[in-house]
Amino acid sequence: MSDIAKLQVGDNSYEFPLIKGTENEVAIDIKNLRDVTNGIITIDPGYKNSGSCESAITFLDGEKGVLRYRGYPIEELAEKADFLEVSYALIFGNLPTQEELDKFHTDIRSHAIVDDDVRKIIEAFPRNAHPMGVLSSLTSALTAFNPSSVNVDSKEEMYASIVRIMAKFPVLVAWTMRKKKGMHLNYGRNTLGYIENLMYMMFKKPNEDFEVNPIIKNALHKLLILHADHEQNCSTSTVRIVGSSHAGLFASLSAGISALWGPLHGGANQAVLEMLEAIQADGGDTAKYMAKAKDKNDPFRLMGFGHRVYKNFDPRAKIIKATADEVLNDLGVDDPILNIARALEKEALSDPYFVERKLYPNVDFYSGIIYRAMGIPVEMFTVMFALGRLPGWIAQWKEMRLNKEPIGRPRQIYIGETQRPFVEIEKR
Ligand code: ACO
Repeated sequence: MSDIAKLQVGDNSYEFPLIKGTENEVAIDIKNLRDVTNGIITIDPGYKNSGSCESAITFLDGEKGVLRYRGYPIEELAEKADFLEVSYALIFGNLPTQEELDKFHTDIRSHAIVDDDVRKIIEAFPRNAHPMGVLSSLTSALTAFNPSSVNVDSKEEMYASIVRIMAKFPVLVAWTMRKKKGMHLNYGRNTLGYIENLMYMMFKKPNEDFEVNPIIKNALHKLLILHADHEQNCSTSTVRIVGSSHAGLFASLSAGISALWGPLHGGANQAVLEMLEAIQADGGDTAKYMAKAKDKNDPFRLMGFGHRVYKNFDPRAKIIKATADEVLNDLGVDDPILNIARALEKEALSDPYFVERKLYPNVDFYSGIIYRAMGIPVEMFTVMFALGRLPGWIAQWKEMRLNKEPIGRPRQIYIGETQRPFVEIEKR
């Protein structure tokens, strides 16, 4: 294949170089399109065909159902690594040696508390506030308590802000849940591992000793690893674009959390559970809901099905499905919701509407069932997704800053009124 793309506009022809990635993905490099064509731009709502950056973090092939972080297959990471190791690999490029991992964890431990005034902020939220709104606000508020995290011109400053947020974010997640449940806001134990500490902060009851449930611990590692990055999705692109203005890391993450909240993105895990509960309350007739999902006059969509890039099975969904079976078996949970999920999956996988459109269960189809079995409230599911996605967002933000990417600023084609005179109010 030639490494040039040719563009013909009227009588003029232009040439643009092709860029090839290490996995042979090809892009037409149109960085100088406007300059050479005297103002022509491309238009691509939803960015279905546009690359925003070159990235060395995550590779996914939606047709083949492949997902790798830093070259490591997701299946191996979910099976063999823990969440902190995967976080390190995403952020710094390679799986850590034991020494590197220990140092990373020690540095995180040294920042694993928040200013006690953060407690006052969280206490001011109404109990029924959505946890994603609370989490986004608290993450943004952390900037006020850690102003040095904003200007990160040196490697050391960047590292300091990364370990701070890796340390403090689990506190915010746990406190957001405890606030929702009306439980005392407690700190963790620095003697515990990263996930054990999270579990302590989330689940410790004031009148009981705390014991780590290994089934929940292993499932949490897996769930968080599977959510840790997914290249330039909506929330990650948001983090990169906010960060491109050199707003601080925490502010960029706060924006990413807001983007993740929507039901077409991370909010889908909550939407899936609510949908399954609604089907159960309506008598469990899955065929009725399958028909609604296919009816173009009905806005209902089968939540947890379909994906912008996976037009084959979502590789994360396979692992999560097996984990859901394991966790529910091991915890002895008999959840009728799971039966509804299984029936919907079976019907969809053999239904021409879903098959033709390549709509398969995505990562969120099963994650909510696992979180529910762990005793995590439905509205917290997307918060758990955010916790998993944290290292990915950090890695993408760091890459964007180190690559010195320009501020993100798309163009548009204006289709409004052309110039017209101002009319005094009494004459309108
Ligand atoms: N149920 C029923 N029909 C669907 C569904 C669904 N879940 N998803 C897509 N379709 C149909 C569309 O109606 C459309 O049909 P048409 O060609 O007859 O018009 C076709 O499949 C293509 O759908 P698009 O919306 O164009 O696909 P897109 O790639 O833009 O959207 C998305 C992907 C947003 C994920 C979509 O599949 C969806 O809304 N799914 C449900 C929500 C969900 O689970 N989101 C989580 C995504 S994973 C994540 O963010 C971690």
